[in-house]
Amino acid sequence: MSLLNIENISAGYGEIQVLFGISLHVKEGEIVSIIGANGAGKSTLLKTVSGLIKPSSGRVEFAGKPIHELPPDEIVEQALIHVPEGRRLFSQMTVYENLEMGAYSKHAEVGFAKNLGDVHALFPRLKEREKQLAGTLSGGEQQMVAIGRGIMAQPRILMLDEPSLGLAPVLKKDIFAAIKKIAETYGTTIVLVEQDVVNSLAISDRAYVMEQGQIVMEGNSEQLMADPHIKTAFLGL
Ligand SMILES: Nc1ncnc2c1ncn2[C@@H]1O[C@H](COP(=O)(O)OP(=O)(O)OP(=O)(O)O)[C@@H](O)[C@H]1O
Ligand SMILES: [Mg+2]
Repeated sequence: MSLLNIENISAGYGEIQVLFGISLHVKEGEIVSIIGANGAGKSTLLKTVSGLIKPSSGRVEFAGKPIHELPPDEIVEQALIHVPEGRRLFSQMTVYENLEMGAYSKHAEVGFAKNLGDVHALFPRLKEREKQLAGTLSGGEQQMVAIGRGIMAQPRILMLDEPSLGLAPVLKKDIFAAIKKIAETYGTTIVLVEQDVVNSLAISDRAYVMEQGQIVMEGNSEQLMADPHIKTAFLGL
């Protein structure tokens, strides 16, 4: 059975429709990538799953129960956690305080000490920089805080929106390695939205390709990596 099941979702902003009948599923323990060009609707899809946007039609089920009519805080309470695009840190707060902000749901409060330990094991830099204001961190460190804040919410599914955006190649490698480690160490299911097709396919089990608000391809990551359309559309080959 799928842990997350998105069925025929359409959604948008006011009069503007952005998603046109999206269906996809994610099984427990999988890393699933969603790749697509700028404006394809990837972030809109994540916002719809986490309840920030209400779909005009379709269903989203998490662990067998419909969630598409729930408010975002109740979805967070079920441990479906969205790390949004662009980090969105509280720049005038410290690293520690930013991490604390991830732990406001009831289930995450109970696990606070363990989850903080997990974040520090994954990103030792964040322990060293505990008292530093988030706004003064490097881009890579800020991304670690954004992912760390997601882990503080004790996710069953972690949905990451372009975690490698704007990072130098060597830092990208670290971020992708950390994502894989989260899945392997804690069994967290991962939905990874990315434009870095090579690195995201390298760590994921399966992937979906979005174009103009629709899923145009899906398959296991190895197959997609070898696909001629992927090569020309995303890898410039
Ligand atoms: N708040 C908004 N109001 C109106 N239109 C929006 C809003 N947010 C996004 N859109 C539009 O929805 C479409 C899809 O945007 P979305 O952010 O989901 O794409 P994306 O695939 O995440 O792109 P990127 O890779 O650049 O982040 C775009 O045409 C965008 O202009
Ligand atoms: Mg986006």
